[in-house]
Amino acid sequence: MLIFPKYFVERPSQTRLKHGILREYAGAWTGIISTGLQNQARKKPTARDIQFSFVYVDGFAGAGAYQRDAHQNVATGPIWGSPVIGTRQIVERLRGVPLTTSVSAIFCEASPEHHDALLHNLQEAPLGIPYRSIRRVAEAQRGEASVLQADFRSCSGEIARWLGNSYGLVLVDPWGSGMKMRDLAPLVGRKKVDTIILYPATDVKRFGSCASKSRAKLTPNDRSNLTRLNDLFGDERWQAIFADEYLVRPEDRESEALALYVQILTEVDPSLIVKTIRLRNSAVDRTSYYLVLTTRNESGALRMNSVLRTAEFREHFAVWADYEERERKKAEQHGVLSLGLEDEFVAPPAPPPTEFPASDVGDAIALRCGAGALTLRDIWRRLADDPYTEDEIRKGLRNLKERNQASFDRLRALGDTITLRV
Ligand SMILES: C[S@@+](CC[C@H](N)C(=O)[O-])C[C@H]1O[C@@H](n2cnc3c(N)ncnc32)[C@H](O)[C@@H]1O
Repeated sequence: MLIFPKYFVERPSQTRLKHGILREYAGAWTGIISTGLQNQARKKPTARDIQFSFVYVDGFAGAGAYQRDAHQNVATGPIWGSPVIGTRQIVERLRGVPLTTSVSAIFCEASPEHHDALLHNLQEAPLGIPYRSIRRVAEAQRGEASVLQADFRSCSGEIARWLGNSYGLVLVDPWGSGMKMRDLAPLVGRKKVDTIILYPATDVKRFGSCASKSRAKLTPNDRSNLTRLNDLFGDERWQAIFADEYLVRPEDRESEALALYVQILTEVDPSLIVKTIRLRNSAVDRTSYYLVLTTRNESGALRMNSVLRTAEFREHFAVWADYEERERKKAEQHGVLSLGLEDEFVAPPAPPPTEFPASDVGDAIALRCGAGALTLRDIWRRLADDPYTEDEIRKGLRNLKERNQASFDRLRALGDTITLRV
């Protein structure tokens, strides 16, 4: 029998979307790294003797399971939380890969109630590796999931060091005002580590308004909000965005603050590629968050684009399904029991675009790359901050070839050369 503490009875729609992204990105991330390692092993047979270590870190792990999805009446069986989703994906993706690998995980949870529920729920979870309760980071062992009851903020540096030379995927999914930049930096700055961070856009907007007050008018509450955001961003630059509406219009503050957050992350390590996705409100859930993903791998960044595109698309329909379910419940409460053929058909809203036109992508390639000979890898890196997928970039290059602005023989390997005349 699983245990569901109060906040793990219903999985909100934003969490469902977040889990979808985690599942797909953890799979893609493992696939990209293991394919790269297999290519290396082909060239250098001694690499076959090395054990490659993959580690999933879940900083704010929760109870490991939810009883049901919000707005759904039908029981769908256990809904596993992020610790199970992340670990399981990596284990599954490495199955059958002809390399010596180990998968480990560290689940950190501060609340004794949630930690105990997590330990209990893991008994039934399809984790794919054994798990164990530990008291200190140093006790974590390779090849196991280690469950730690601790404040993630105070042990993130130690975990970063424990990762050593491993490939790490770190989920930072706190409630409330996010994780302090100084506690995040050791993980984000670690080579071979990708992170998925929840950025609290609503809190930034709500607390940010106190930056427009004069110092003399600040209440103790305002001061603590200022400190919270100073901690989140790591310094006071964010205050300029909220200080004066003539400098930044109120409607632009959310995007400007997010752009600053992304910039600050890249200041931790300039080789980072950072992507963001908005976890949009469903009509019931008013808080809005962004997922911020960091990687150093251009293939990872482009794969992230496909993951985000699929996720945005899925979320679009999930929000619609939530709406329908609420309407159905409302109708039931008012004694309207049937939603049969006599009901007026209401079409779902138009979905977001599924693919960028090849000519648009071609123009973007011309703009970012200019004239000259480049490899496919160079082009991917230059477009890593754009929203295009690998497939769209290939189509964009073929479009440039049709326009006589590019020549190449093939677009298969990252080393294939393309000459641009733009
Ligand atoms: C949003 S929930 C996690 C949900 C989980 N990641 C999932 O998707 O299934 C946040 C969790 O972080 C825990 N938490 C809060 N502050 C913490 C801290 N400083 N260190 C570690 N865990 C913390 C809370 O008790 C809560 O269980």
